[in-house]
Amino acid sequence: MEKLFEKAISVSDLCLTYGNFKVLDQVSFDVIKGACTIIMGGSGCGKSTLLKSLIGLLKPKAGHVLIEESDLWHASNSARQKLLRKCGVLFQGGALWSSLNILENLSLPLQTHTSLSEKEIKELACYKLSLVGLTGFEEFYPSEISGGMRKRAGIARAMILDPSIIFLDEPSAGLDPVNSRRLDDLINELKQSLGVTFVVVTHELASIFEIGDHSIFLDSSSKSLIAKGSPKDLLKNCEINEVQSFLQRKG
Ligand SMILES: Nc1ncnc2c1ncn2[C@@H]1O[C@H](COP(=O)(O)OP(=O)(O)O)[C@@H](O)[C@H]1O
Ligand SMILES: [Mg+2]
Repeated sequence: MEKLFEKAISVSDLCLTYGNFKVLDQVSFDVIKGACTIIMGGSGCGKSTLLKSLIGLLKPKAGHVLIEESDLWHASNSARQKLLRKCGVLFQGGALWSSLNILENLSLPLQTHTSLSEKEIKELACYKLSLVGLTGFEEFYPSEISGGMRKRAGIARAMILDPSIIFLDEPSAGLDPVNSRRLDDLINELKQSLGVTFVVVTHELASIFEIGDHSIFLDSSSKSLIAKGSPKDLLKNCEINEVQSFLQRKG
């Protein structure tokens, strides 16, 4: 019998606008639990906008976003905040607080959202830093570490409250190929060892094929989702021109 995959997120008939400007319409897809789903498409097609609607920052004009079967946008504010506690986010740019060291950056959400003691907070923050290979850099400030290390610290911070879903917007932007590759390895490791669900916006081809179990392709001219499937399957079987030229870029 076919295995039924559990859904972490289910999006149906989503329409996203900024005022009168429509970015996406009729978007429907599922995010499978414990897998990595890539949101891809050309610049300006609405990848970040879609992400914003999944993490509680942009109310859809129409449609539904279910997170673990609860409707994010048709819930009370308090229920929505509770749902969003399941989500960790690394924004495009991945800002850490520059005036706080790495340990303090990770401790802040724990101080705000938990009643753990300072000692417990420090232990937990150090543990998360160890998961992303940053043991020994606790006391460093963001400006004192490399771009790749800042991204990894950002991921550790996104994971600090033990989210079941982690959203990453262009995590490898600005990284050299070696660090970009290390970030992909980290995402795969965290997915396998912790069972975290990932939703990643990226247009880096190498990353798409390395980390993507599933993907959706957004298209700016039709303002809609035009393909979904595993990146490898789409490359092999999808006959849509936009998708093929995107996935076959050289370089
Ligand atoms: N805050 C905003 N207000 C108005 N338009 C926006 C805003 N953010 C993005 N847009 C527009 O929405 C479209 C999609 O943007 P975005 O989601 O950032 O694209 P992507 O992340 O795929 O590059 C673009 O045309 C962009 O100019
Ligand atoms: Mg974007």
